Amino acid sequence: MKILVVGGGGREHALAWKLRQSPDVTELYVAPGNAGIAAMADCVPIDASSTVELADFAEKLRVDLTVVGPELPLTLGIADEFEKRGLKLFGASAAATEIESSKVFAKEFMVRHKIPTAKFTCCASYEEAVTTLRKRSKAEYPVVLKADGLAAGKGVVIAESASDAEGAAADIMKRRKFGTAGDRILVEDFLRGREVSFFALSDGEYVLPLVTCQDYKRVADADRGPNTGGMGAFSPSVHVSQEVFEQVLEEVFIPAIRGMDQEGRTYRGVLYAGIMLTEQGPRVLEFNARFGDPEAQVLLPRLKSNLVELLLATVERRLDTVEVEWSRDRTVCVVMASEGYPESYQTGRSVDGLEKAGALQGVTIFHAGTKQDERGKVISSGGRVLGVTAQAGTFEEARNAAYAAAELIHFSNRYFRKDIAREAETIEHKAHSDGASARGTQGGSR
Ligand code: AMP
Ligand code: GLY
Repeated sequence: MKILVVGGGGREHALAWKLRQSPDVTELYVAPGNAGIAAMADCVPIDASSTVELADFAEKLRVDLTVVGPELPLTLGIADEFEKRGLKLFGASAAATEIESSKVFAKEFMVRHKIPTAKFTCCASYEEAVTTLRKRSKAEYPVVLKADGLAAGKGVVIAESASDAEGAAADIMKRRKFGTAGDRILVEDFLRGREVSFFALSDGEYVLPLVTCQDYKRVADADRGPNTGGMGAFSPSVHVSQEVFEQVLEEVFIPAIRGMDQEGRTYRGVLYAGIMLTEQGPRVLEFNARFGDPEAQVLLPRLKSNLVELLLATVERRLDTVEVEWSRDRTVCVVMASEGYPESYQTGRSVDGLEKAGALQGVTIFHAGTKQDERGKVISSGGRVLGVTAQAGTFEEARNAAYAAAELIHFSNRYFRKDIAREAETIEHKAHSDGASARGTQGGSR
């Protein structure tokens, strides 16, 4: 089979890596790919947002299945374009992707279908936002402000006071920090708890949950500094009991998939729910219409089943016929970034030590922002450069391997968090010394 992966980050490298393991795959193309992907697939110089060109390519080369990584092509209707031409593509339609691309749609959808989420008010002007913010008592701070549209993970502000919140609202709505994403903002209650990333595949009807992960959103250790796309991840989550897992399936995924179908936005693809586990129960922070990045880097190595078969079953609406098997291993991904990310940073730095690091037991290095220079040397080309991932029987071993590998890789402005999965290691140790098995080992059963 010929497969085309759309995108060029760490998530797409992980998808391509897993797809490569399938005996069904004869040719693997990635558009546009990166330096790491180029070593294991044919990179095609088409931008991920050029949906028509991608469909032309798939048609011309008779690609059997296209797999979309990022949200932008989905929002631009790549699934609709492929469907029109009778081409198979794994990814949600533009109408279904609104669950990610419009936070207002997502929140109102959750209310309509009784999916638990934080209370909110939608404001269409700066004045309305100020009135809403001033109505809140001191005890109702911090408050969360969210720009409505896509803002590359940066459109969310947590404000400690009314004046901070008004300043943030002015940045978004008056100074248009995120462009038209600031036409409307959500003023939302702040939720306390543990954040977990949940994923499920759906063919529009059947819901197949995948294993859980935890992501590190803030740039610095101890969750300080601004939000990023994700600085590291581990799987499984250490906060999800089988009971909570089933609760999320029943209260979030099943009503979401049913609700999208009822509203004429049948959801086919992977649905990602960012969930806060609060004292009152699980609450949805956001939905995304794609795999997480770096969550895919810790999720896919644990998948024992054939990924092509799973994705095809989703596209061909027969997800209820497949069995999924997961490894009980733990996975840890440490993102190596360019110093200064998520704000300004420099690129074009020579990346050394990849071979040595990649040879360590259980380690796989997924490339994100890398490219090859004229001499074929790997250089950095983005904020997040690499996702150094390790798989082992315990979090301690996986964590040690990932950090040992990261230490072997050098580029002059490299930066990474030092505390990825530390919490998982501590909880696992404690569970071990208490004589209990670690929690969160759930697999893909329904
Ligand atoms: P979102 O893009 O909506 O997921 O928001 C980005 C990040 O902001 C989330 O992953 C959370 O860490 C944080 N966040 C969003 N909404 C809330 C909330 N209501 N309470 C607390 N933290 C939140
Ligand atoms: N790591 C968070 C995301 O992919 O949105």
